[in-house]
This record gives sequence, structure tokens and C-alpha cells, in this order.
Amino acid sequence: MVRRVVTAALTPRIIKAAEPFIRDTAAGLLGRVRAPGPADLVAAFTVPLPNRVTVHLLGLPPEDADQLAAWAKELMESTFPATNSTPRGEGFAAAFPEFAGYIDAHIDRAAAALGRDEGLHDEARHNDVLSRLLLVEDGGGRLDRRQVRALVRNLITGGLTTTSQLLGNLIDQVLSVPGLDGVVRSGPSGLDRAIEESLRLSPPVLFVPRGCVRDFEVGAATVRAGERVIVGTASANRDERRFSDGEAFDADRANSDAHLTFGHGPHLCPGAGLARAVARAGLAAFIDRFPPGGVRLVPGYEFENVPTFFECGPRRLPVLIDLS
Ligand code: HEM
Repeated sequence: MVRRVVTAALTPRIIKAAEPFIRDTAAGLLGRVRAPGPADLVAAFTVPLPNRVTVHLLGLPPEDADQLAAWAKELMESTFPATNSTPRGEGFAAAFPEFAGYIDAHIDRAAAALGRDEGLHDEARHNDVLSRLLLVEDGGGRLDRRQVRALVRNLITGGLTTTSQLLGNLIDQVLSVPGLDGVVRSGPSGLDRAIEESLRLSPPVLFVPRGCVRDFEVGAATVRAGERVIVGTASANRDERRFSDGEAFDADRANSDAHLTFGHGPHLCPGAGLARAVARAGLAAFIDRFPPGGVRLVPGYEFENVPTFFECGPRRLPVLIDLS
């Protein structure tokens, strides 16, 4: 259900229409990074860009973006993703009352606006993702408030941090993999190849959990019906039977896009198109703003992962900028 609804709310047309906003926002954020000087590109760029795009698509006020990013970060780094609770309580509304209250207030606002226009079917007036979630029909009718609240929360948290990790990994790689800067500057195909290879080598979501419905054998192991399994995406994406020299970043790899980073089968990530669009526009803005050699990682930089146990992405990208 989630997948169908999100796919209906996030069509390629909506993503295409958001592209100018994504490009302008990326250029604006990078334009504010002071040059010459030191900067942290995670705080200045890779976190705020997907955040502002999500806020824009949901039709929420742009001035709330930082607050939403702070709530999303707090949630993703808390015990909530693993246990559905925090010391404040169990379930989203009890564990994060301010965040839940904020979403509810905007559901009320969007529902009231739709109610006023009922029957007008004016798509142009209600083409934000929140209004679409309220309008979408799921067999038995429209979604209830709890379902819409959970979907909006998932879009703000899941879609936001994962895309930040993708952008962070990409910039880290452009600044450290020999020759990659030239590849991404060679044109749109170079950008796309770098993005797919980054998704393969550094999957922002490290594993996918599954409940097993029947006994089966995998390798030397038997997995029984009812057991939970964790599918390790980063490991599968390095399978030597599929990817030769799987540990290496190779932008010329012919099958980079055969990765499992967005999952596989019926639950394949419905946000993949948006994530790729943000990565493409973000990286294009990055090479526009900084000429070759204009930005480099600080000497002695070492990758430190974000403190979310199932994600992979840099916690910081400390750089020195010198455009002279
Ligand atoms: C680089 C960024 C992203 C990565 C790596 C990623 C990865 C994933 C993975 C691995 C799954 C589970 C697939 C499975 O169970 O087989 C998933 C599901 C999902 N993703 Fe993403 N995702 C990303 C961005 C987004 C964005 C931007 C959105 C929405 C705006 C989004 C929305 C969803 C939703 C709603 C599901 C649940 C689908 C279902 O259960 O059928 N994701 N994603």
C-alpha cells in the first residue's frame, strides 16, 4: 500500500517539475559557502538540499525546513527506528509529540483547503505531495490521518537522510577517487555513471530486513519460516560473481546499476527517481561552483559514518576552499 501511494504522489512528472527548484536550491546553498575558507559540506549542503526539496514537494513552509531536519536527525539517531519507542513514549506521537503535532496541523490545513475546493479538481492548486496523499484512493477509500501522518514522517525522515548520505558519499568520492572529478565534469553521462557506481559501492541504506514465509536454503544455511533475515546490500553489491574488483570505485563499470541499493522486487524504493534527481542536480551545482582543485578534503580527513546503524554516509565533509 505504502509503495502504491508514494508512487502515485511522486510521479516522474512531479519530479521533473521540481528540477528547477532543486537546481536553484543547490546553487543557492553552495553560493553561501564562503570562499576562501574551511567548510563542512555535510552541514552546508548534503543535509539541507534533500531537506529543502522534501519540504518543497510536501508543500510545507520553506522556513520550517531547519526545524524539520532537526526532528528527522533526532529521530533517525534515536532508538525509534529499531524499537518504535524512545524514553518519551511508544509510537511516533508519544515519542515525538512536537514533530507529530506539526504534521497533524499541516494535514488539517491541507484537508481544509481541499474541502473548500471539493469538486473543483484543480490539480494545479493541490499538486503538493501532502494534498495528493489526502486525495489518493486505496481500494477501501482514502487514507486515514494516522496513515497520512506516518507517510509524511517517512518521507521527511527516510527520503531525506538517505539522499543526504548519497550526496555525501558522492562528494567524498569525487574529492578522493583519482580521476573521478574529470569524469563528472565530462557531461551528464559522467554524472550518471558516478552516481550509479556510488550507489553500488556505498549504499546509503546498508541492509533490508525480511520475514521469511517458508523454509529455504541459501548457501550452506537453512532459513526457517517465521525467522527474520537481514539482507546485506553493501555485501551483495560487491559480489565478485557479479562485479569484478567489487571494492574499487570504477565509473566505467558497465553494470554499476545492477546494484541492490534501492531493494528488489515488489518493495523496490519508490523514491529512487527523486533521489537520483537530487544527486544529479546537487553534483552538477557542486562542479559549477567549484573549479577543478578549488575544493579539497582537509589533510588527514578520515571517513566517519553517520550515527544511524543502518545507513552509510559521511558524518562530516570538512573541506578547504580556495578559488584563486
Ligand atoms: C539514495 C536514497 C534512497 C535509498 C538508498 C533508498 C533505499 C530504499 C530501500 C533499500 C528500500 C526497501 C526496499 C525493499 O524492502 O526491498 C526503500 C523503500 C522505500 N523508500 Fe527509499 N531509498 C532512498 C530514497 C527514498 C526517497 C527520496 C523516498 C521518498 C521520497 C523513499 C521512499 C521509500 C518508501 C516509501 C519505501 C517503502 C516501499 C515499500 O515498502 O514498498 N526512498 N528505500
